[in-house]
Amino acid sequence: MTSLLHVNPRVRGIGVSSQVGLQSLAAQITQQISMGAAKPFKEVIDVSTIDPQRAGMKPISFIRQVLATCLYPQLLDDRSLPQDVKLRAQRLLEACDGGSVGSYTASSGLLHVRRSIAEFITRRDAGVPSYPENIFVSAGSQRALMVVLKLLGRGEGDTRTAVLTPVPPPHTLPAVLDEAQVTPVPYLLAEERGWALDLDELRRALAAARGRCEPRAIFISNPGNPTGHVQDRKSIEDVIRLAAAERLLLLVDEVYQDSVFGPNTEFVSYKKVLFEMDEEFAETVELVSFHSLSCTTIGECGLRAGYMEVVNMDPGVMHFADTMLCTDINTPVTGQLALDLLVNPPTPGDDSYDTYTQETLLTRATLTHNAQHGHELLSDLPGMSCQPAMAGVYLYPRLQLPAEIREQAESLGVDADVLYCQKLLEEEGVFVGAGHHGGTTGSHHLRLCVLVPRDTLEDVLARLGSFHLRLMDPDGGVGTSRETTF
Ligand SMILES: Cc1ncc(COP(=O)(O)O)c(C=O)c1O
Repeated sequence: MTSLLHVNPRVRGIGVSSQVGLQSLAAQITQQISMGAAKPFKEVIDVSTIDPQRAGMKPISFIRQVLATCLYPQLLDDRSLPQDVKLRAQRLLEACDGGSVGSYTASSGLLHVRRSIAEFITRRDAGVPSYPENIFVSAGSQRALMVVLKLLGRGEGDTRTAVLTPVPPPHTLPAVLDEAQVTPVPYLLAEERGWALDLDELRRALAAARGRCEPRAIFISNPGNPTGHVQDRKSIEDVIRLAAAERLLLLVDEVYQDSVFGPNTEFVSYKKVLFEMDEEFAETVELVSFHSLSCTTIGECGLRAGYMEVVNMDPGVMHFADTMLCTDINTPVTGQLALDLLVNPPTPGDDSYDTYTQETLLTRATLTHNAQHGHELLSDLPGMSCQPAMAGVYLYPRLQLPAEIREQAESLGVDADVLYCQKLLEEEGVFVGAGHHGGTTGSHHLRLCVLVPRDTLEDVLARLGSFHLRLMDPDGGVGTSRETTF
């Protein structure tokens, strides 16, 4: 029977991307183990992307207690729950229609939550005001990004909308751009300078793109994913000036804003810098900033909630953003409530304050330790160099691979770092991401999420180190030891 559905060739293209290919190999190996296949490891460890709770990190008690009470209000009578948990649950339930999390909300989110977010941003930016009407809650920050990209996308050929995108990009970005039918214009980050953004390189990329497509926006990941770089105020000002001069929208992914651990490093938001510049910038440069519940201390990826704040945007465009979010009807209410708790945590004097502080500090300490420890161990391996991360959740080491594996990858038509990841997965059950340079630099990288329990990272580093040493030993030759399944 002929199916009414068909696979769009563009989707087919995304389906064979390295992450998806490696994901399905990891699933196959896991299934083989569950069916009793003998392997030199008991389970596959996936550190290719951020998903802290899958990796074994514990959820924050306060978040879960409030959500549990909102879902099952009879818990308001439970004496074992802290008083502030019950008060918060009560307040959140009052914000929901019908006093229930089972009711629909406005498509851009509960007004109560948008107000909390606006207050959080105002506090974070030392008084630069934020307004609930400029906040759009969405089912994850990627969803909000998609809405903006779809609003931006138009034209064909040399008029087709393009977005300046960093290399390396967040690994999910190419697929989102592709789905929105927007052309990526790559600009290279400077690896030797800790993956700093280079303004001349941005200008070069822009000039090279003009005439071939229509660049309308710059995508920035700050703190950087997967690089761990944090931009300073001067660098942000430079980008804002360029955006103003070239009439480009700024799309700023700031989801790792609360995971900065590098010495003498601090996160400053694009919005704060913009509002502290002259009026010609502060009142004209269009900016969209994204934040997410998925990243760092809260790590509630599966609850699916994020938001964007839009600045200096035409009210007509804001209306369309709202209309596009309407197709989701609304962001899952539990996610919206968790967002409220993320931006409005317990304060000193609240019953939950000590536990909340201990739990979040433990997560941050684990992240900081893992990023430093991982960096030291990986930098010591022959044929591997690693820039230290200042923030975020990834390490992104560079590989100098032996000619043998590079030739093998070429003959198979895959990138050498993808082949490396495949073999590591097959031989050691460790799933790390392959670099996303798409042939632009000819270099090879790995992406490791270090927001995992310490012993998990130890296990990953031990297995990765032993695989890597075998690979680099010309007599060991793991490059030829197994069949390739690509
Ligand atoms: C740069 C970046 N943005 C956003 C996200 C999270 O997306 P979402 O909020 O849709 O879960 C991630 C997580 O992988 C990320 O690394």
